[in-house]
Amino acid sequence: MSIFICYMFFLLFSPLLIAGLDDCTTTWCSKGGPIIGFPFRNKFLQPEHCGYPGFNLYSNESNETVLELPFSVKLVSNIIDYVSQKIQLYDPDGCLPQKLLHLNLSASPFHFFENPLYDYVLFNCSATNRAMDYIIHCPAVAGYQVYAIPSYSYSYSYSDDYPLTSCTKIHEISSVPWYTFDQNDLHLKWSEPYCSHCEVQGKICSLDNNKSGTQCTSKPKIHRSGTIGAFLLVGTLVALYYVYSSSRIKKENQATIEKFLEDYRALKPTRFSYAEI
Ligand SMILES: *[C@@H]1O[C@H](CO)[C@@H](O)[C@H](O)[C@H]1NC(C)=O
Ligand SMILES: *[C@@H]1O[C@H](CO)[C@@H](O)[C@H](O)[C@H]1NC(C)=O
Ligand SMILES: *[C@@H]1O[C@H](CO)[C@@H](O)[C@H](O)[C@H]1NC(C)=O
Ligand SMILES: *[C@@H]1O[C@H](CO)[C@@H](O)[C@H](O)[C@H]1NC(C)=O
Ligand SMILES: *[C@@H]1O[C@H](CO)[C@@H](O)[C@H](O)[C@H]1NC(C)=O
Repeated sequence: MSIFICYMFFLLFSPLLIAGLDDCTTTWCSKGGPIIGFPFRNKFLQPEHCGYPGFNLYSNESNETVLELPFSVKLVSNIIDYVSQKIQLYDPDGCLPQKLLHLNLSASPFHFFENPLYDYVLFNCSATNRAMDYIIHCPAVAGYQVYAIPSYSYSYSYSDDYPLTSCTKIHEISSVPWYTFDQNDLHLKWSEPYCSHCEVQGKICSLDNNKSGTQCTSKPKIHRSGTIGAFLLVGTLVALYYVYSSSRIKKENQATIEKFLEDYRALKPTRFSYAEI
């Protein structure tokens, strides 16, 4: 009987077990947020094999979909387009230029899809009215203004073109699109792994068995939960048979006792209780 009780417990918790095993299914951080599917994974909820290296997302405490880019640049994603392999990101702190100072995409699987890309030199200037474009509005420091001057137009020989007195060169940013200092959005693209053809056909892209490339399968891999289903079915049948046969044995015992009592009564018409037998 104890085997039966154990089995009932197993049956009770098996939905949790199945949910735990079927861990690479698409997920999301919030209802309106982007779907997290291959090559991305939720790095705190899904094992490594669910995603491709470098495609780690997580839900932050306010259920935002966060992508961490090298080096420690945390941006929130609002759109992921799996067919065109693009991801749209924004800075939750509202100051993308500051994040760009630490961004190094060459150490990540992503790249800008706009062309051309430009190099900029950043200057920190005390606030006097200057006839210069390329103002960076954040982070704002009272009495100071930061300018991003394109490297192609700025060089020391042409520095007279820019009123850079009482300015200090603070940084260089290479290979970014022109819009990065005006917007809080960043549009990135990935080429590897290439899964567009799979997405277009409505199929499932995943790591292949070698975990080196990708495979395109027509159905989600359900064989694991399928195995568990068969296991549950067999288990249930075994348990039912166990209950059935044990109750039959009980009935047979009862019948024997009753027969014995009847035989005994026939011999001696005195009443017996079960306890006396
Ligand atoms: C998480 O959400 C909060 C609240 O919106 C936000 O301030 C914070 O920057 C987010 N964290 C990251 C790492 O994006
Ligand atoms: C985040 O999502 C969880 C579950 O979906 C919900 O219970 C929680 O209230 C959400 N938190 C915020 C800050 O929206
Ligand atoms: C960006 O990262 C790559 C690879 O990690 C490195 O070689 C390169 O020097 C980095 N560039 C900058 C500007 O830090
Ligand atoms: C610009 O210079 C001022 C004064 O040194 C400093 O407080 C401020 O943080 C600087 N801004 C940047 C973006 O480096
Ligand atoms: C997996 O690796 C083996 C040996 O390294 C190779 O023969 C096989 O073709 C690979 N399969 C795939 C699907 O890449």
